[in-house]
Amino acid sequence: MSDKIPLCVPSIGAEEHEAVRRVLESGWLTHGPHNAEFEELFAKYLGVRHAVCLNSCASALQLAIEAHGITGEVILPSFTFVASANAIVRAGATPIFADVDPTTCNIDPAAVAARIGPRTEAIMPVHFAGQSCDMTRLTEMADRSGLAIIEDSAETIGGLHHGAQAGSFGTSCFSFFPTKNLTTCEGGMLATNDREVAERVRILSGHGIAKTTYEKDQTAKPWYRSAVVAGYNMRMSNVQAAMGVQQISRVDDFNDRRRQHAAVYDEAFASIAELSPPVEVDGNHHVYQMYTVQTEGIDRDLFLEHLRRDGVGASVHFDPPVHEQQFYADVDPQRDLPVTEILSKSIVTLPMFPDLTETQRQRVIDSVRSAVEASRLIAVGAGS
Ligand SMILES: Cc1ncc(COP(=O)(O)O)c(C=O)c1O
Repeated sequence: MSDKIPLCVPSIGAEEHEAVRRVLESGWLTHGPHNAEFEELFAKYLGVRHAVCLNSCASALQLAIEAHGITGEVILPSFTFVASANAIVRAGATPIFADVDPTTCNIDPAAVAARIGPRTEAIMPVHFAGQSCDMTRLTEMADRSGLAIIEDSAETIGGLHHGAQAGSFGTSCFSFFPTKNLTTCEGGMLATNDREVAERVRILSGHGIAKTTYEKDQTAKPWYRSAVVAGYNMRMSNVQAAMGVQQISRVDDFNDRRRQHAAVYDEAFASIAELSPPVEVDGNHHVYQMYTVQTEGIDRDLFLEHLRRDGVGASVHFDPPVHEQQFYADVDPQRDLPVTEILSKSIVTLPMFPDLTETQRQRVIDSVRSAVEASRLIAVGAGS
């Protein structure tokens, strides 16, 4: 049996090892000078004014909502990781679910429009798997209705919408979990053009104290600490930030390689009637944080079992969707999510990461072909 092909393997090079080693030797492990460096590079990459390093995207989402003072309804897709909705609940607001577009799996602007009501305060577009939502229509809608945009860009770093970065349209949140476009082990970033939002997030993430430990260390009375709000500890460490500084300089190369793998997969799967490869919408630049195919006419779970028996680390994003999870079963009873419900039962995620080798990629393709044969549903009445 050949080696397993994981769903994702992070690309960690000699530069990251060296950067982390230096920080460990410096003795300054907590939030420190590399945080400011990483924030500056990240803000520049996105083309926004402010970026704040945090311990996760989940924290960034929660603090984004709190810092905007949102306590009413936030419209988001149910076809997402549960962290998107959890952040809304944790911040004291209410999630309202809108259906997604069947081609992109991104939130459908028409479905969002249908859910805007008197209590709506924000829209949370989730850029699924590396492709931007239709931010042209969503920002127009938000501007018209006076709503905030809180982008969940956990799955998209470097994706473009008409030349603008996903995550540059509102206050946005990114994840550096090891499966994402870049990694700091765990970690997240909040980005915004709103100086006050950035400042509130900085304070909330550091126990509610206006100056960080590193900044205080440079002052005359470093021991003086006065909280201005009851905050959290959601900081990123100096060690992770040092890794982030290296990774952000390599993210375009990572994404180019993801796109090359996607092109080979697309070509191989185009002739398989049961599979629909992902579609890159005109005007978008997809960065394939995940490579997902939609299946039809096969038993999806049997298909997955076949791949996994072959050592192909295929998975599903997302089944069940958020509204079918126990905690959310009774939240938003007015929801109407037919596309989400079909997608969650038909989608499959295949291995995708920059260092995927040609041999591994071909093994995935061969295994997908045989898995389709092994899991094809026989049409009722066919051949009888
Ligand atoms: C859409 C989405 N939002 C939020 C998160 C949470 O990210 P983190 O693990 O950094 O909190 C994820 C992570 O998988 C995600 O896919």
